[in-house]
Amino acid sequence: MERYIMKGGDPLVGEVCIGGAKNAALGILTAAIMTDEDVVIDNLPDVRDINVMLEAIQEIGAHVTRIDRHTVRINASAIGEVSVDDEYIRRIRASYYFIGALLGKYKSAKVPLPGGCNIGSRPIDLHLKGFRALGAEISVERGAVVAQAVELKGAHIYLDKVSVGATINVMMAATLAGGLTIIENAAKEPHVVDVANFLNSMGANVKGAGTDIIRIRGVHRLHGTEYSIIPDQIEAGTFMCAAAITRGDVVVKNVIPKHLEAISAKLQEIGCEVIEFDDAVRVIGKPCQMHTNINTLPYPGFPTDMQPQITVTLALAKGTSIVTESIFENRFKYVDELARMGSNIKVEGNVAVIDGVAGFSGASVNAPDLRAGAALVIAGLAADGYTTVDEIGYIQRGYECFDEKLRGLGAVIEKVDSDKELQKFRLRVG
Ligand code: UD1
Repeated sequence: MERYIMKGGDPLVGEVCIGGAKNAALGILTAAIMTDEDVVIDNLPDVRDINVMLEAIQEIGAHVTRIDRHTVRINASAIGEVSVDDEYIRRIRASYYFIGALLGKYKSAKVPLPGGCNIGSRPIDLHLKGFRALGAEISVERGAVVAQAVELKGAHIYLDKVSVGATINVMMAATLAGGLTIIENAAKEPHVVDVANFLNSMGANVKGAGTDIIRIRGVHRLHGTEYSIIPDQIEAGTFMCAAAITRGDVVVKNVIPKHLEAISAKLQEIGCEVIEFDDAVRVIGKPCQMHTNINTLPYPGFPTDMQPQITVTLALAKGTSIVTESIFENRFKYVDELARMGSNIKVEGNVAVIDGVAGFSGASVNAPDLRAGAALVIAGLAADGYTTVDEIGYIQRGYECFDEKLRGLGAVIEKVDSDKELQKFRLRVG
């Protein structure tokens, strides 16, 4: 079983280049099957969730050509199957995007109810409400969502909760519905905007993405396109926190600084220096960082996907910080793991009260999910001595070459898959 072993204690210093946004790519790859023409997608991250999605697209009959590690050509003219079923696709949450894409194009879809990270109950009722409003009949049969429509008709849809997935999914289906669809209380995340821009580049008519009202005027067909995915806000934020927690100095390159404003603001509040460039941010950690309070919120608020990374950073700041998780109910499971490194955090419901400690000591921990796994790695890099992080399959779902990028910043970290390799690392590092 693969795991990361690291020897912490040194500041991370240097430059790191951020890849394409996983969550934008998941929407864009499924939207690409809505045309019969060639679609070329660039700046794709080479991570597990994306590769699983590409396999599933192939499985239903689309032609996928890897032009290079980060570029694919998709041609969906030969799709013969509106039923997606692959043992892996069940494990990724974004499999729900197949419902919107297939329903939009073929007026029919059968997709297993999604899996994904274990961070609490994650219903898709709002997605289904949106599809029903567009005229689809929806049922759940043997664990799969079955959606059918004679035709889709534009509708006025109010999303009761701000949901990234429901916004993107309904937006995709509505691009090929008759007439005007208005999504109210839409999510404003950068990847919602990226998927909308991608759909527009295929000839869709989507306006207002990035605000809370999106208007979609249905078109008859979508055409081929070439598109480059935006940089990953969360990968960038993770490296920003890695700089802060190790009291390092890191230039995080190939980012859109606007997407990182909430993270930059919080790091500045705790005393880090954050310098913005056109397409980079530099984070300089300080020896004595201070406490702060954080509440996760939909964009432009502080992202829930950055909650574990900022929490571990605050666990080494002076004073008491309070982190409130407002999006997912069960997202503090990693706190027990972090306690093995010597943190002092109490969780009550969706609130963590963090009493900063002077240092962590290395320990063996398990990654409970994708972002918490990455947070434990950066905590290990700030800890004294050796830390091993198990279950790194979670981390590989969303971070490309995580250990390699960290080594580029001076981290002493390696991926090992046996106790023998682990011993070798210890002997070599000393
Ligand atoms: C997406 C991201 C995920 C991120 C989350 C919030 C992808 C593939 N995943 O997940 O990394 O953490 O946005 O930024 O892009 N909800 C309902 N009913 C629904 C849908 C959602 O009640 O039908 C609730 C959820 O339980 C949650 C909240 O709405 O409490 C927000 O969830 P949502 O934005 O939909 O998250 P995902 O799209 O699943």
